[in-house]
Amino acid sequence: MTDNSSRLPGFYKKSIAERADITAEWAGLNETEKRILTGSGLSVGQADHMSENVVGTFSLPLGIATNFQINGRDYLIPMSIEEPSVVAAISHAAKLIRAGGGFHAAAADPVMIGQIQLLDIPDMDATLNILRENEKELLECATCYDKMIVKLGGGPRGFEFRPFPDTPVGPMIIIHLLYDTRDAMGANAVNTAVEQLAPLIAKLTGGRTLLRILSNLADQRTVTARCVIPAEQLAIKGISGTEAAQHIAEANAFAVVDPYRAATHNKGIMNGIDAIVMATGNDWRAIEAGAHAYAARNGRYSSLTDWHVNEEGDLYGEITLPMAVGTVGGATKVHPSAKVVMKILGVESAQELAMVMACVGLAQNLAAIKALSSVGIQQGHMRLHARQIAVAAGADSSQVQRIANQLVADKQINVAHAQELLITHP
Ligand code: MEV
Repeated sequence: MTDNSSRLPGFYKKSIAERADITAEWAGLNETEKRILTGSGLSVGQADHMSENVVGTFSLPLGIATNFQINGRDYLIPMSIEEPSVVAAISHAAKLIRAGGGFHAAAADPVMIGQIQLLDIPDMDATLNILRENEKELLECATCYDKMIVKLGGGPRGFEFRPFPDTPVGPMIIIHLLYDTRDAMGANAVNTAVEQLAPLIAKLTGGRTLLRILSNLADQRTVTARCVIPAEQLAIKGISGTEAAQHIAEANAFAVVDPYRAATHNKGIMNGIDAIVMATGNDWRAIEAGAHAYAARNGRYSSLTDWHVNEEGDLYGEITLPMAVGTVGGATKVHPSAKVVMKILGVESAQELAMVMACVGLAQNLAAIKALSSVGIQQGHMRLHARQIAVAAGADSSQVQRIANQLVADKQINVAHAQELLITHP
């Protein structure tokens, strides 16, 4: 927990070493942690214990998004992503959101769903009755497999019995074990519990159990982030803040009604979320699967966000999605970089981490649809690209931005033109 401000003006202009120094001081990293932050982190030897047939490691950029204030606390957000503009755009959006009081987020209890498939059911109603009548015994049975999680306040919470009378192979009942995994992502705890529980279910019902596995549609374990941005913050050249807020609401409505747009809209959201999920060593495939399945929960794939103009004329934004992430177990506790990332984040629970991730998703979405509904996204991309070109042409840090601006203005973003400008306008 830190009292430091995440407003770090000019952070992006600093050298890598300066950024690392600022981050290390901000988060109280020691020299070893700082070395891990700026190096590759994971050794081949460590990697060999994580996967199979290992021959090396594969690195990605690790950036720090600034300006985040969530439930009154400031955060620096480490993000591992290869795509340009995402970290910059998210930091910019977080700054706008900060001006409206920051993000407000809340996470549901970390309850995962474990599924047991029950087949060979001669009488659906009778079998459902047996399951309901024996719920207490089933719950007791599910409780005894992991005493530790129960001690920590987690463990089984209850059951759902879902009949499917018509499937391609005949009737089946899907039993949901609802299981609070506390600060773990929980796949192992849940998979163990459903595997142990299945024989009792088969014995009680006389049916046959087949699949026993967690569901990635973790719709009990959702997180919501909200923000309000004063309209005047959104004004840009030629567009008033009120108009810009309306355009953002219109852009969101496009994603609400059209799955073709929703896929891209939500992909952008996941640009932000995946990057922090990756950096913390969590399972980004699980988060992706959960997010997209949740986006289709009403029968049509739709937007994960809501943006509208509120009664005060300001822009209100909200996102809700499942967030099955952990702060204990898995790569989070094994990958050296993930451990340092967790220290920078300074979160105290999986729920807090989930809240940070939802805010990152909301910030990304604001940045994307704000740009798309005004100047388009290429301008921002090209600006960042132009900076790289200016550097490649030999510009020093005092010249980079000016040369890049000129490259953009001249619509000639190439090294030869940058070199020319460095001679004519040094
Ligand atoms: C690109 O990676 C993501 C965007 O396409 C998202 C969006 O369209 O909202 C810019």
